[in-house]
Formats: sequence, C-alpha cells, structure tokens
Amino acid sequence: MKTVVCPGSFDPVTNGHVDIIQRASGLFDRVIVLVAYNAAKQSHFTVEERMAMLRKATGRLPNVEVDCDAGLLVDYLQRVDAHAIVKGLRAVSDFEYEFQMALTNRKLLPGCDTIFFTTSGENMYLSSSIVRQVCSLGGDISGFVPDCVRGEIVAKLRPQQEQERG
Ligand code: PNS
Repeated sequence: MKTVVCPGSFDPVTNGHVDIIQRASGLFDRVIVLVAYNAAKQSHFTVEERMAMLRKATGRLPNVEVDCDAGLLVDYLQRVDAHAIVKGLRAVSDFEYEFQMALTNRKLLPGCDTIFFTTSGENMYLSSSIVRQVCSLGGDISGFVPDCVRGEIVAKLRPQQEQERG
C-alpha cells in the first residue's frame, strides 16, 4: 500500500490545499494530511480547528485521513510507514523554501522523496495568509476556501460588526 503524507500548517485550509490533496488521493492508496504544528509558534486556528476543517473539506475522499504532529516530519513518516511527502508548488517563489525542506528531509531520512504537484492555475495566488487578510478586512473569501468551512473561518477572523453587515 502506497502511503503519502501531505504536511502543512493549514491555517486555514484553502481550495489550493484541497486541490492538491484530491489529486494525490487519485494517485496513492492512502493520503495522510498532517497538521504539522509547533507549540512555540503562534497560529490563528487551533490544531483541533484546523483538523476539523480539513476533515470536512476532504470527507468525500475515502482514502484521505487527517492527523497532527508536533515533531519532525521524517519521524512521522517512519511511524506511519509512508513512502513520500506530497506538497503543492505555486510559483517560483515557493521553490527555494520547498527545495530546502525537501533536501533537509532527505538528509535526515535517506530515501525520503518529496513529490511536488504544480498548483492548478486558478489557485496560483492563494495562500492561507491571503485568506486571513482578505477575510479579516471584510472581503469575500468564497472561491478561496471550501464552502463547508467558510462560515467558521469568517466567524473566527472577521470582526463582529463586519459579520453583522454580511
Ligand atoms: O504550510 P507550511 O507552513 O508551508 O508547512 C511547513 C511544514 C509544516 C511542512 C514544515 O514546517 C514541516 O515539515 N514541519 C515539521 C517539522 C520538521 O520536520 N522540520 C524540518 C523539516 S524542514
């Protein structure tokens, strides 16, 4: 059974993440979406909130699971007997950071491969931080995040008076 791990902060999940997860689920037997968190690093959504949103957004994909971990990614990979890491690449600007992480993981765990999916064109500009910024300033995030989680993202990020205005 080919298992891959799709790690990230998912703070919050976007349509770009779901696109990559969905495409990976069509190619591999088991996809574990991993909320990789660092207790010392501030996040906007709790680990539980991020996992719950990911579960809702990927619920229709039977071979996708959601988990969390605060340790080294390569240790997690070994624990779940995963074959590779799956990540999305949006633009050249992502490349340097992703390349550094892929090489670090391969150094820590020889044989560990990172498979990059190029983002779908319509999601090129999307990131969790763009979603947070647009939402907190009252912008419309439909089309940026899965419909099933939009309400909770708005509820958390948008000031109360903005929510009342719609
Ligand atoms: O969504 P992000 O913030 O780009 O994801 C980064 C993430 C979570 C994949 C990365 O920080 C990570 O792998 N963290 C786990 C800790 C670890 O193994 N670090 C060393 C590998 S570079």
